[in-house]
Amino acid sequence: MKVTVSAPANIAFLKYWGARDLSLAIPENASLSMTLEKARATTSLSWHPAQTNGVSDHILLRDAQGTPAPAPPPFAARMVEHLRRMKQAFGRTGHFEITTGNNFPTGAGLASSAAGFAALAFGVAKLWDLPQDPQSLSVLARDSGSGSATRSVLGGYVRWPDPPKESAAGARSIFPAEHWELHDVIALVETGEKSVSSLEGHRRATTSLHFPARQEHLDARREGMERALLERDFSALAPLIEEEAIELHLIAMSSRPPIFYWNPGTLEVIHRVRALRAEGVSAAFTMDAGANVHVICESSSKRDVVSALQGLASVSGIFEDHVGTGPRVEATE
Ligand code: PMV
Repeated sequence: MKVTVSAPANIAFLKYWGARDLSLAIPENASLSMTLEKARATTSLSWHPAQTNGVSDHILLRDAQGTPAPAPPPFAARMVEHLRRMKQAFGRTGHFEITTGNNFPTGAGLASSAAGFAALAFGVAKLWDLPQDPQSLSVLARDSGSGSATRSVLGGYVRWPDPPKESAAGARSIFPAEHWELHDVIALVETGEKSVSSLEGHRRATTSLHFPARQEHLDARREGMERALLERDFSALAPLIEEEAIELHLIAMSSRPPIFYWNPGTLEVIHRVRALRAEGVSAAFTMDAGANVHVICESSSKRDVVSALQGLASVSGIFEDHVGTGPRVEATE
């Protein structure tokens, strides 16, 4: 049996940064994200049960033109490890043939691991007919070790873990996509692989002297964001999104040894977004573990944001996305 599924990236408003158990992606703090619609990983999976036991999983990665080639070893190894955990958890023997690819740059702070591992978990759940309620699906995705994948199996605005104090719990969509159509205009100032993986960033996070102080105010920031989402109050949401983005990078920059994800283009975009706001355009910047800047805005501001970013020397491309509904089945055979 073969299934092709796709799953979106997501952009965290409140970041997962630092883990109690990194290999199982048990987070130090609750996070909150917006699931995207267009930035997706598309993954075809076929499952060859028991009689082929002993054959290893076969992973292909589509390049930018859509041509499949053997996946780079570290990437393939992470997928094979996730498959191994799922086989063990559900007592299955056999092997997978998998072809996967993203429609956006990989490893550049655009949550490619979130989309990729969410698609993998969702595809396996479909092939094996596993429970597909939000908790089960999100925990299946989390077992990849990519915490942000936990949120990408659900649509709309997603909180993980839920309840927030139960660090081993799965995710929950707290508002559906239809609740509020927010946009994410992604300014690409770097398209290569980032130099320090988010896994390494999580590992170093607790070495920052600012890490304990961060934990103390995160609940209040999350509650403020949830209230702003509930009331669709962009002017309340924007400063919270920005202070959280700055703090993620403050922790990274003050880790031992420090991590600098920003480049001069990141700052150019940040300054432009601040100037836009002074001109009356409501928009807020955020960055994940990379240099690229996600500019969150309402529909009414989107055109102004896109044209402002297009005018910047360091922006090599713009990816326009918006809140989306989560993974879907693309084809079955
Ligand atoms: O899911 P990971 O392990 O790649 O970590 C994600 C880290 C951030 O993107 C920086 C924050 C987040 O919550 O998505």
